[in-house]
Amino acid sequence: MADQDLFKKVLSHAKEYGFVFPSSEIYDGLSAVYDYGQQGVALKKNLREYWWKAMVQLNDNIVGLDAAILMHPTTWKASGHVDAFNDPLIDNKDSKKRYRADVLVEDYVGKLDTKIEKEVKKAAKRFGDAFDKAQFLSTNPRVVGYKEKGDAILKRLGKSLENEDLVDVKALIEELEISCPLSGSKNWTEVKQFNLMFGTKLGASAESATELYLRPETAQGIFVNFLNVQKTGRMKLPFGIAQTGKAFRNEIVARQFIFRMREFEQMEMQFFIPPGTQKEWYAHWKETRLKWHHSFGLGAENYRFHDHEKLAHYADAACDIEFRFPFGFKELEGIHSRTDFDLSSHEEFSGKKLQYFDPDRQENYVPYVLETSIGLDRLFLAVFSNALQEETLEDGSSRTVLRLPAVVAPTKVAVLPLVKKDGLPAIAKKLADELKWDMTVSYDEKDAVGRRYRRQDALGTPFCITVDHQTVEDQTVTLRYRDTMAQERLTMTEAKAKISEATAFENWLKEI
Ligand code: GAP
Repeated sequence: MADQDLFKKVLSHAKEYGFVFPSSEIYDGLSAVYDYGQQGVALKKNLREYWWKAMVQLNDNIVGLDAAILMHPTTWKASGHVDAFNDPLIDNKDSKKRYRADVLVEDYVGKLDTKIEKEVKKAAKRFGDAFDKAQFLSTNPRVVGYKEKGDAILKRLGKSLENEDLVDVKALIEELEISCPLSGSKNWTEVKQFNLMFGTKLGASAESATELYLRPETAQGIFVNFLNVQKTGRMKLPFGIAQTGKAFRNEIVARQFIFRMREFEQMEMQFFIPPGTQKEWYAHWKETRLKWHHSFGLGAENYRFHDHEKLAHYADAACDIEFRFPFGFKELEGIHSRTDFDLSSHEEFSGKKLQYFDPDRQENYVPYVLETSIGLDRLFLAVFSNALQEETLEDGSSRTVLRLPAVVAPTKVAVLPLVKKDGLPAIAKKLADELKWDMTVSYDEKDAVGRRYRRQDALGTPFCITVDHQTVEDQTVTLRYRDTMAQERLTMTEAKAKISEATAFENWLKEI
């Protein structure tokens, strides 16, 4: 499927099969806000659990936390969000559309990347087995030219944003002759900063109410609880605190479905370390997190690192793990070396010491922090869009199959009586009830069995068990595999064991 078609298909499939709905749809929806349906909530929960197990359950030195969404307003002064959590926005005077100026420039560079990919594909076809991609990338004049141009643009953009030089950001847009994707016009306004936090109020009357913010990241809940956790958990550095939860951002350029939402969920881990060790921990977490992504089996070629040119106010190094979404490589997770910025700043604003006594170094200090931060909704989109495939079968018919990694599939097995008579439903129901204690099961007796298989394929159910007349005789069933459509005859116990093995966290996570 072409990328554009795939993305349309992702949207319609997500809705049709109960994964994602537009929020408050009966009132025509709310832009960039979405609800997860009966299938989506299960997939999302499984993805969250997959992260939690890898981060908290399997690491002796990482513990969990669930901090409140509403926090004391000074938190956001200390974190820098009140002053610096801005997007540079630009309006097109003809279409009246508003854009993020940095995204317009990044999209321009993205097009150069696409040109490079096309050149690589062409050359790979031309040279066949003798093709050396690394050599081609470093020597082909056209490709080198695209790469140098892209790098120079991003470097200049990073510098201008760091220096708050919005005049130069506009100049860059004009020099690159970037036009409005809607109107094609190059008639731009000045670039202006816009704060992304949602404000709200706490209190009974308008006069006495305190101005609050909905948290724009979960990380600050971890920082303000650093000492609570360290002391009550008797934690020794290095150690981490992990948290999943909602975050809110008044995104102006909200598009691409659940990729950029105004209300979304983050899964973040702050790893507290002695000062001076941040380089090695940065390398460690980059590698560990990439391995975790690879464990889904979506293809290593679909991930890449992108180092930040423009560092956030709190970071001394940062990169993104990017994923190849249907609309190109985009950020999926951020790895940030946050120095002691956050804890030092909270010390200053709260007047409370947030220090650690290091028994090995025999000194007190404010720990440094290494952060891993991933959007759960983006992870959902990555897994879901990669899994959705249209296949042409040997007999010429087609099927839609959602090849979700079995470990996170909403339903692990569908139990289907071959026909709705001869006592088969009773046996199938009994089997489904038994399996329910160990895995998520659905029972379906409507329609012909072939149609039921297709429905389970579209829902991403990795296994079907069919109960037929032979089951009445010898208690055996047919186990059908979603991906290959192969079928085998097994006892019920054997079928259950195969499903358990294929869906066990252990078998997916043990590589990392
Ligand atoms: N605490 C660091 C932090 O929040 P970030 O790069 O702004 O860093 C981390 O966000 C991750 O959160 C991103 O990599 C992305 O996966 C997710 N994310 C950020 N904004 C989002 C949005 N508007 N919609 C969905 N996910 C978002």
